[in-house]
Amino acid sequence: MRQAADLAVAGKTVLVRSDFNVPLDHTGGLRAIGSGGSPQRQESVPPGQPSITDDGRIRAGLPTIRDLLHRGAGVIVCAHLGRPKGDDYAARAAGGPSLRPVAGRLAELLGQPVTLAGDVAGGSARVIAATMGPGEVAMLENVRFEPAETSKDDEVRGELAGRLAALADVYVGDGFGAMHRKHASVYDAPLLLPHAAGQLVMAEVNVLRQLTTSPARPYVVVLGGAKVSDKLAVIGNLVGQADRLLIAGGMAYTFLAAQGHQIGDSILQAEQIPQVAAVLADADKAGVEVVLPVDHVVADRFAADAQPEVVPGPDIPDGRMGLDIGPATSDLFARKLADAKTVFWNGPPGVFEFPAFAAGTLAVAEAISHVTGLTVVGGGDSAAAVRHLKLPPDAFTHISTGGGASLEYLEGRDLPGLAALEDGA
Ligand code: 3PG
Ligand code: MG
Repeated sequence: MRQAADLAVAGKTVLVRSDFNVPLDHTGGLRAIGSGGSPQRQESVPPGQPSITDDGRIRAGLPTIRDLLHRGAGVIVCAHLGRPKGDDYAARAAGGPSLRPVAGRLAELLGQPVTLAGDVAGGSARVIAATMGPGEVAMLENVRFEPAETSKDDEVRGELAGRLAALADVYVGDGFGAMHRKHASVYDAPLLLPHAAGQLVMAEVNVLRQLTTSPARPYVVVLGGAKVSDKLAVIGNLVGQADRLLIAGGMAYTFLAAQGHQIGDSILQAEQIPQVAAVLADADKAGVEVVLPVDHVVADRFAADAQPEVVPGPDIPDGRMGLDIGPATSDLFARKLADAKTVFWNGPPGVFEFPAFAAGTLAVAEAISHVTGLTVVGGGDSAAAVRHLKLPPDAFTHISTGGGASLEYLEGRDLPGLAALEDGA
């Protein structure tokens, strides 16, 4: 894969596809912003103005943009935010979300103005592209305002890709978190311009390659998160690679149910039980140890102010739902991580956003931070948990910006965005 550093960019306009799909808070008021090891600071946000609750993905995209500017390029950032709804451009643009708060944050972090286009690849974007100079930065509006961005029709995507490519001389793909999407700005646009991978993509791929090519053993994988259906494919693949799978979070209750345990009112994907049972049988055959929670922190409802209770065994009574792993599970997971030489962690073990149910996530994060070896945190939620819990960023070898993208990479699937960048042009 050609790297952005190898492209001649002085005096050129570079279209940089970034993944700045950051979590937004729409409630307004006083919000903490900032992350990535810098001191948190408070900023007053008027009601109705969405604020960014975790800017880790914007920070992760800075090195590539700074380097291009430094080398005399003008940079046009293309990114998506959320999943805008509506049949056409006008409806989506009216409904939002706009990239305005992201452009504002990028300007703060770069310490220079970022011009936000009034559209994605229409008249406004064309005027900005035609008039920008070296060292200047602009951002296109949310690329998903264009329904063509996510179209399954190659021609429909191709038309938008053509308009995007016409804005620039060179394409740099740096949006690792969106590389698993066969979208116009991710897959089709790079094929129309000289293209290369940005620094974030190179770093992400480098680490994921280490996980998939002879990882040092024991290789321990910790999986959490709400939905087992999102993770079954990767779990199936990891059974052939990892030595131990520690399973927690909402998905663990479907595993416990598959083993015949009572899970009370905990989140359950009953239709997944046969597949989960099959994965457990495969793991058994392959000699892969699967470790499930042995106790829980429960409550009678899903709320920050619900009363936490420890259930000292794997079964959860009716009327209670599991919201975190219990202390015995935290200890067990720490022991199962102690001798690890490689760790991949995706998905929080508990509802860490509620302080009363954050202890399990913190314990797992701490246990992983003591591992000497390659430790990778993958996925927006686990990365956000690490920042939310204010763990030092150097506690892990790598915090991936990709959730679905890193899982699909570990599943062994080809990522369309990476394939397009690999294609020589
Ligand atoms: C993400 O946040 O996972 C990426 O930005 C991709 O977004 P998507 O899941 O809406 O395609
Ligand atoms: Mg996603």
